[in-house]
Amino acid sequence: MSAVAESVALKKTPQVPGIPYLGNVLAMAKDPAQFFVDCYRKYGSVFRVKLLGQSYAVIAGVEAATFLGTREGKESLRSKEFWEGLVGEYGAKRMLTGEDGESHKELRDIMRRGYSKESLKGRYNELIKITDNVFKRDWPVGKEVPVVEAMQYMVTDQLGTILTGSAPLEYVKDIRTTILYILNVLVTRQRPKILLKNPKYKKARARVVELGEKMIAYGKERYSRIKPEDRNLIDDIMAAHIETPHIMPASDLIVSITGPYVAGLDTVANTTSAIVYTVLKHPEVKARVYKEVDELFASGDEVDEEGLMKKLPALNGAIMETMRLYPIAVAQMRTATKDFIFDGHLIKKGEMMYIGTSVTHFMDEYFPEARKFDIDRYQKPRAEHMKPGAYSPYGRGPHTCLGKSLAEILLVLTMARVFYKLDLELESPNYVLKTKTAPTPGPAMDFKVRVKGYRH
Ligand code: HEM
Repeated sequence: MSAVAESVALKKTPQVPGIPYLGNVLAMAKDPAQFFVDCYRKYGSVFRVKLLGQSYAVIAGVEAATFLGTREGKESLRSKEFWEGLVGEYGAKRMLTGEDGESHKELRDIMRRGYSKESLKGRYNELIKITDNVFKRDWPVGKEVPVVEAMQYMVTDQLGTILTGSAPLEYVKDIRTTILYILNVLVTRQRPKILLKNPKYKKARARVVELGEKMIAYGKERYSRIKPEDRNLIDDIMAAHIETPHIMPASDLIVSITGPYVAGLDTVANTTSAIVYTVLKHPEVKARVYKEVDELFASGDEVDEEGLMKKLPALNGAIMETMRLYPIAVAQMRTATKDFIFDGHLIKKGEMMYIGTSVTHFMDEYFPEARKFDIDRYQKPRAEHMKPGAYSPYGRGPHTCLGKSLAEILLVLTMARVFYKLDLELESPNYVLKTKTAPTPGPAMDFKVRVKGYRH
């Protein structure tokens, strides 16, 4: 027994019962958020699950969420193992999500500015124009629109135009297929490795590499003519490569430079799609959101960047509430770097772990009537999300979403424009959203809404 374990009386960690070999994979694949909540209620803040023969320690609840950001949490947990398959697949040495400690900080420092909300400064109205053009292309009046797919094209258009001046729409399907295979096989390991031999995946991956090479060529060409203060994310990554190749070697460029699509595509597409559902499903919320966005755009199609968020409390509440109930990251995956004790349980060095940060989203203790869609929870004095460890849609600790503030603007502007411009309806008022869990939890791909017409 390790020195850590010898020093205190330990609790016995429950094993969640499952079926041979598959373990708990079916329950988890069905509804991972619910699975973790149910286990937390039944077994407490620490338990073990088995997925395809592999054991995972799960820690969940507010203490687990806050643990990610503490010194002990940073020393005890790392992301490396979960991402090394992806890093290897691209022949890279390291990538942001898979590094820890100083090495992680080094990469995060290079990319911080490019992923920040400042990168959108002065470009809100351009984003609105991109969004409006997407409506003309992908949301025709009278049609039933597959929402998630339409949103995937929307976010690719937005990110591509902002970052490289053009949208790589012809690569959307390839990016999606690559994310699907890599996350399922190499990161969450819910599918066997043999799938990576599938020609469909190989072709998609080659296309993503091709996209990365185009982005690198774009960055190289700009390097000598763009002033350092005007650099975007691509420029900063290229500058790091050209000026400090030991930090950003050529081998790591593709995975870093296509990062925004991998990190932003499914996350934003799933979240915006879920917001379409939640707002249409709640007519009283819809009326409040309509009123707000109509006022915002009353004098034209441009917005004042200053104080934008404050002008849209109902929409912001709807976005936050949707992210609480439909989190795209149900749990964070980590490995224990050493033996440590969490809530009286011994976690052993090398154990694969899930940190169930979203469990609290569904607990009445933190969000009274947690299953109720209530957009006013976030307003003071209630501010339910402010309870430490209660609300973590963007993760926690050193790997907290680097694109968080950029994503917040992308979400609010996109949704403001969706609800200002489009008159949408669900299949029926009784329609209940079906969800998918892989590669990223969110609305099912067959979730459709009908475009009744244009509101403006
Ligand atoms: C609805 C929108 C989004 C949500 C809910 C979200 C959520 C998350 C979460 C939970 C993580 C942490 C994963 C972990 O700890 O293992 C993360 C990481 C990250 N996200 Fe986001 N994300 C969103 C949008 C975006 C966008 C639009 C971008 C950039 C274009 C972005 C860039 C990143 C990056 C670069 C990381 C890695 C940070 C690191 O490892 O240090 N995200 N995101």
